[in-house]
Amino acid sequence: FEMAYKNGYAIGAFNVNNMEIVQGITEACKEENAPVILQVSKGARAYANHTYLVKLVEAAVKECPDIPIVLHLDHGPDFETCKACIDGGFTSVMIDGSHLPFEENVALTKKVVDYAHDVAARGRYITVEGELGTLAGIEDDVKVEHGAESYTKPEEVIEFVERTGVDSLAIAIGTSHGAYKFKPGQKPQLRFDILEEVSKRLPGFPIVLHGASSVIPEYVEMINANGGKMPDAIGIPEDMLRQAAKMAVCKINIDSDLRLAMTGSIRQYFMEHPDHFDPRQYLKPARANIKDLVKRKLVNVLGCNGKA
Ligand code: G3H
Ligand code: 13P
Ligand code: ZN
Repeated sequence: FEMAYKNGYAIGAFNVNNMEIVQGITEACKEENAPVILQVSKGARAYANHTYLVKLVEAAVKECPDIPIVLHLDHGPDFETCKACIDGGFTSVMIDGSHLPFEENVALTKKVVDYAHDVAARGRYITVEGELGTLAGIEDDVKVEHGAESYTKPEEVIEFVERTGVDSLAIAIGTSHGAYKFKPGQKPQLRFDILEEVSKRLPGFPIVLHGASSVIPEYVEMINANGGKMPDAIGIPEDMLRQAAKMAVCKINIDSDLRLAMTGSIRQYFMEHPDHFDPRQYLKPARANIKDLVKRKLVNVLGCNGKA
């Protein structure tokens, strides 16, 4: 994060749920010599099982010895899940207390930080991401309607960081989770003024952007052209994300774009090959699409290619 901050780039944090996703992401980062964060949500752990995910990431670390790979818990819902991930091989966790009142968010986040930073007890330092402000959209089983989201209050960030001891802070500046971030006709906007205010108050401190998929139109079109129905899926323009990465944003979370690339590819494959039924045939181009997508993000959004 320190290097990313100083050099005006961000590290991509990509959500992983299965082998092909892990391979597509890490092959791209290996070829582009980029550091990478592989992150796992509560839903991913429920789907693929903690041990399988850890072993897939261990395999990627072995296959890519020259790039730094972080295994991070995305949106840790409670202390117990964070503890299970810390004890179970993760190198970083997020505790998401953003839906709680300030004092409760501080108390929960501090509890996770105290456990994660206890190097004497676990022999290694686990980084912790906290969050202030709420994003619209769906993450695991929490759904926040558009209009019910709340921007981060810059006047709260110093107290939150000082009292909790977090290593990075996710803030809400207008991004949202999922594929429907803006309505058709609505001008995509991010509150760069809030980001600026936060970074003035926390100089040099790494900021995290969730809900940062650009919902790449080519993949939405690929889905819709092949039997899918995702009208009006709109994301954050890539140039806005690149601008954020040049500012205090050091970690950019991307999940929906991976899903679109994979789904578009599989839909197209089935339309073109209705008689095929071997998963290796349709997952191979899906994995290649994920690799292409990640390479594109490294250059267009993150700027961390060549930085490993
Ligand atoms: O912010 C949430 C991520 O997109 C993960 O989604 O909870 O469906 O795995 P998920
Ligand atoms: P997207 O839905 O924009 O990909 O956001 C992912 C995310 O924030 C994961 O925590
Ligand atoms: Zn998120």
